Amino acid sequence: MTTHTVSPAPVGDGAAVTALRAALGPEVILLPQEFSGRKHADWSRMPCAEPLALARPRTTEQVAQIMRICHEHRQPVVTQGGLTGLTGGACLHGGEIALSLELMQGIESIDTISGTMTVLAGTPLQTVQTAADDAGFLFPLDLGARGSCTIGGNLATNAGGNRVIKYGMMREQVLDIEAVLADGSVIGGQHRMIKNNTGYDLRNLLIGSEGTLGVITRAVLRLRPKPQAVSTAFCGLPSYQAVTTLLSRAQASLPAGVSAFEVMWPGYHDFVTSRMPELRAPLAGRHAYYVLLESSGADPVRQAEAFEAFLGQQLEDGILDDAALAATESDALAFWAIRDAPGEYPRFIPGRVSFDVSFAIADVGLAAERCEAALRARWPHATILIYGHLGDGNLHIVVHEPDWPASAAREVQDVVYGITGEMDGSVSAEHGIGSKKLRVLGLTRSPADLATMRAIKLALDPLWLLNPGKLLV
Ligand code: FAD
Ligand code: LAC
Ligand code: ZN
Repeated sequence: MTTHTVSPAPVGDGAAVTALRAALGPEVILLPQEFSGRKHADWSRMPCAEPLALARPRTTEQVAQIMRICHEHRQPVVTQGGLTGLTGGACLHGGEIALSLELMQGIESIDTISGTMTVLAGTPLQTVQTAADDAGFLFPLDLGARGSCTIGGNLATNAGGNRVIKYGMMREQVLDIEAVLADGSVIGGQHRMIKNNTGYDLRNLLIGSEGTLGVITRAVLRLRPKPQAVSTAFCGLPSYQAVTTLLSRAQASLPAGVSAFEVMWPGYHDFVTSRMPELRAPLAGRHAYYVLLESSGADPVRQAEAFEAFLGQQLEDGILDDAALAATESDALAFWAIRDAPGEYPRFIPGRVSFDVSFAIADVGLAAERCEAALRARWPHATILIYGHLGDGNLHIVVHEPDWPASAAREVQDVVYGITGEMDGSVSAEHGIGSKKLRVLGLTRSPADLATMRAIKLALDPLWLLNPGKLLV
């Protein structure tokens, strides 16, 4: 297991707070007594300190002013969006100012000819999805935290979610990004063109930088044609080989391709459908694997026929044991509710240890099998939930046993990350590194990779003010 030494991050002495308050006023800079009781931690359950002050800018110019003052006073800053992150990226370690984008919300413009939408970075994902739909388009990024997570957070973590298989990750959904650097300079802009080969791609550098390279303030998003027909099925399969065969056949022969291919192992399926009374299992029997298959395209009649015929053929060939086809939108929503159940984990498994790992698609079945066997051997009675975005090789594993000692989390991580490293997987498919996965980053990134990342960080933020102790140390 790789370990890193922590870089000495600067810690603010409070002088910056006085200067910020004087320059921006009490509307923008709040002192601790003015935000007592406020939640600062994300969903990761990582430790989180109170900020020295809370900055709530309304404009890019105010963000720039905040960063100029913080730079002058060597004051560390943690940028916060919707606080739905799962790796502690937005948590505070002590001595930082929290910079929240909560007042920088809004859709500024939609260009229906170019298919673009310009938004402020604090805009919630679901607001963007709805506005795209109202304008006759699709904004394809989708994930369980859609109501609270922000476009800035989605960009900073390069979020993935449910439709990556067709549309790609957040990286593919954006044409330009405006951001404020650690010294207060503003980079990027509001270009609406797809092609722009004018040197280093700063937009892509900011995507996935987890608040360590700049504060994202605005984005030009790329919209897609709205599908006119969505076909959804909940399938039961006999083997992992059947799962990969279904995936490759669906990609090759469904006229509209595959827009979601979510796989659930029976432990996950049985746990969520038995514990959450609002969920109903769509299939009668028990199966070795469950797949939520979705295809979305432009021709309702031809697509529905082709989808149904495809499922019939797979049943005949023994690739599927059983399948439920959504006849209505509410059927489809009921299928998705089973897959979106992790949003309810805090209610059902508060002390869980969670993973977001990825492998080559061919290796996912074996990786899951190895992880489950190794965990089961050590903790025979643990709850082990396995599911994920299989079309992207992305597995989520959740492990829990009542009355675990605090040391158990690390032991569980050693098991899963050990197998991930041995199988040349990634320790983070889509949630990022934050502070939660710092110690294992070296399992997936080489020393030369890490040195290059560090050089970029030092070039853009030499005083290490932006989100210290996260992603890179
Ligand atoms: P925050 O949690 O506030 O911050 C996350 C990171 O981004 C931090 O490092 C922060 O410093 C940085 N940041 C935030 N805003 C900015 C900004 N404007 N400029 C610079 N840095 C910034 N993720 C997936 O990828 N796929 C999923 O399927 C998925 N499902 C989820 C389901 C649930 C129920 C939950 C709770 C989370 C899920 N997530 C998923 C994780 C999370 O929703 C995403 O990481 C999301 O992109 C975070 O957005 P946020 O606005 O909440 O960011
Ligand atoms: C999901 C989150 C945990 O896919 O990424 O449910
Ligand atoms: Zn996920």
